[in-house]
This record gives sequence, C-alpha cells and structure tokens, in this order.
Amino acid sequence: MNLSDPVVDISLFSLPIGKKDIFRSEKPLVLEIGFGEGEFLINAAKRDGSRNYLGLEIKRGRFRKAVRAAEALSLENLKFLHIEAEIALRQVFRERMFDLVLVNFPDPWPKKKHSKHRMFNQKFISCLAKVLAGGGRTGIKTDQLSYIEQIVAEFKTSGLFRPAYPPPGFIEIQTGETETKFEKHFREASQKIFSADFLNLPSQTD
Ligand SMILES: C[S@@+](CC[C@H](N)C(=O)[O-])C[C@H]1O[C@@H](n2cnc3c(N)ncnc32)[C@H](O)[C@@H]1O
Repeated sequence: MNLSDPVVDISLFSLPIGKKDIFRSEKPLVLEIGFGEGEFLINAAKRDGSRNYLGLEIKRGRFRKAVRAAEALSLENLKFLHIEAEIALRQVFRERMFDLVLVNFPDPWPKKKHSKHRMFNQKFISCLAKVLAGGGRTGIKTDQLSYIEQIVAEFKTSGLFRPAYPPPGFIEIQTGETETKFEKHFREASQKIFSADFLNLPSQTD
C-alpha cells in the first residue's frame, strides 16, 4: 500500500483491521463518520501531523471528490474508506482503536416518520463504544435542536458514555474553527449549531 494513497482497500486485509494496517503508525487516531466532501478531515490532517485521520463516507460522489482533493496533497496521515458506518464499526475495525470519533452534521431526518433512519440509536452507540478507546471521546454537531436532545438521551440510556457537558448535555457553538461544508451553509443561514461530546466509560474488561 502506498503510504500517501488516501483510499483504504480493506480487501487487502483480514478483518478486523487495526491502526497499523491503515497507517503503519500507532499515532492517536481520529475517525470522522460521514465526511461529505472531506474538507474538515483534509484541513485537520494538514494542520496536525501528530494524529492520523480516517474518514468514512457512504455516498460515492462525495467520497470521490474528497479523494481527489486529498490526492493532490499526498498526506500520510489521512485515509478514506467508502463504506456504511455501522458495518464498518461492527465488522471492519479492531476494538478500542480510535481516540476520537466525530460526526459533523449527521443526516437529520427531520420528519417524524423518517426518524428511524437517524444514525444515533442504541445499536450504533454500542458499536461506537466498542471501537473507541476507554476514555476516548465522541463529538457530534448538528443544527437540529430536537436531534441533539435525542442524541443526549440515547447516550444516557446506553450507560456506555458520560456526557462531557453539564445538563442539558450539549452547547450552542458560536464559531467554527474548522467548518465543514454543511456548517458554513447553516451559519450563512444564521441557524444555530449545537455540539455534544461524550466520554467512553471503561468496560469491565479494560
Ligand atoms: C449532512 S451530510 C454532512 C457532511 C459533512 N460531515 C459536513 O458537515 O459537511 C451527512 C453525510 O453523512 C453521510 N452518511 C450518512 N449516513 C451514513 C452512513 N450510515 N455511513 C457513512 N456515511 C453516511 C452522507 O452521505 C453525508 O455525506
């Protein structure tokens, strides 16, 4: 595998894969789920060589756009996987391998009849807990108040994480130091942006 090729080809490995399969290094590892066109991860990887950055995206067009942008930069600490997130968390990654998992603007599915499609449910949260290091953090941003409230409730119900913020468990953020495409769009429309962070509790086996 070429170290600066941004695409991870999981068919080259026996599963589950670990940090060293992807990056050949044990640096702290950040995962972004649903990276869209990848601008957040690309900027983060460019600015911070002390960590490795891996992104998952299900939409092929967005994935390809991010790959093209990353190819021009030849960064060794940035990789992308074209895969559905829950499948990846459940079947592809070794346990406890991520230090930070970020989900920037998960699809909101605002209509009640569609809310079953939202990413954060008990199954997904338990998959997250398994791949995050004990004490590792997950950070979520959304412009939807009802969604962030539901996310806080789901994490609380899971008993697997501790909220990093006091009640109500999320904050409204004013400035985006690393804005994503969706974040820029929401700010320009003067929409509020909410952020919640959760710390993974050590499991019985840690
Ligand atoms: C609202 S967009 C946000 C994109 C980007 N994070 C941003 O802030 O600009 C949500 C992204 O998550 C991706 N996505 C949704 N469900 C996913 C899943 N189950 N696995 C991987 N990616 C997913 C979508 O394809 C889309 O690109």
